Amino acid sequence: MTHKDFIEIHDYSAAEVMQIFELAKRMKAHPDEFRESLEGQTLAMIFEKSSTRTRVSFEVGMFQLGGHALFLSARDIQLGRGEPIVDTARVLSRYVDGIMARTFAHKTVTDLAEYASVPVINGLTDLSHPCQVMTDYFTAWEKFGNLKGRKIAYVGDGNNMAHSLMYGAPKVGMNIAVATPPAYAPDPTVVGEAQADADSAGTKVVVTTSIEEAVKGADIVETDVWASMGQEAEAEKRRRDFAGWIVDRKMMSMANKDAIFMHCLPAHRGEEVAAEVIDSDRSVIYDEAENRLHIQKAIMHTLMNDRKR
Ligand code: CP
Ligand code: NVA
Repeated sequence: MTHKDFIEIHDYSAAEVMQIFELAKRMKAHPDEFRESLEGQTLAMIFEKSSTRTRVSFEVGMFQLGGHALFLSARDIQLGRGEPIVDTARVLSRYVDGIMARTFAHKTVTDLAEYASVPVINGLTDLSHPCQVMTDYFTAWEKFGNLKGRKIAYVGDGNNMAHSLMYGAPKVGMNIAVATPPAYAPDPTVVGEAQADADSAGTKVVVTTSIEEAVKGADIVETDVWASMGQEAEAEKRRRDFAGWIVDRKMMSMANKDAIFMHCLPAHRGEEVAAEVIDSDRSVIYDEAENRLHIQKAIMHTLMNDRKR
């Protein structure tokens, strides 16, 4: 694989996605084989937003690969006081072997990748959340085996999770239907790019305002928060606009009989998902959370293992 960065699943081929899945599977089964894979290397983790899973799984992942992770809150580093991204990227590249960043603007991550000489990993932006979505499809692959021809329904806000799920589906051979209220549709550029990938892969990317159209025949039903980080001021309005969009048992009954439920977490029980679904045996939320560790170790190993220390 010749990639320097991991910014978007869209940038990776179906074969490369599968290579990362196979590596993550091996790392999960035989963690000891990889104890020295990133020995002596350091990952800088820049966070403009809160995190539980991303922060902990990257830090633990680096430790398990023999390396070290540095938590850098954007509030505490000079980037937060306006130091240019170009200088931050070039300076960090003199100290560390990789950078993971969680930012508001997507451009912050793409600029970091442009100016850093070390690999940059997208740990969530307002546009996308590719590490989570690689993990979600990996989790589905563990549950169902071959994903070709299966269907995922995403119900809710057309946000970063919706975007990455659309980018990822054609890479794993799945059809995806994204249902949102009319005012919360996903970004048309992302939809267009994902549909073009789907055309080449022979899969489908459908965007609709009909929950039934999306969920009917689905093997996976996934949702996410109605107000993402940075949208706290709109939370009340969004709660009103999304009335009727809760994933409950009735909605799950429109999906296939053995359909599973996914959510990247954190979740709001009683808002986007009912406790009767997220806490049921159809829910795989904790497997998704665990698999963040394995997939990200595989991504870091792929990007950083053969770097000179
Ligand atoms: N799913 C996810 O990225 O969780 P955190 O916000 O806790 O990192
Ligand atoms: N859409 C959510 C995902 C959190 C992991 C957010 O951006 O806040």
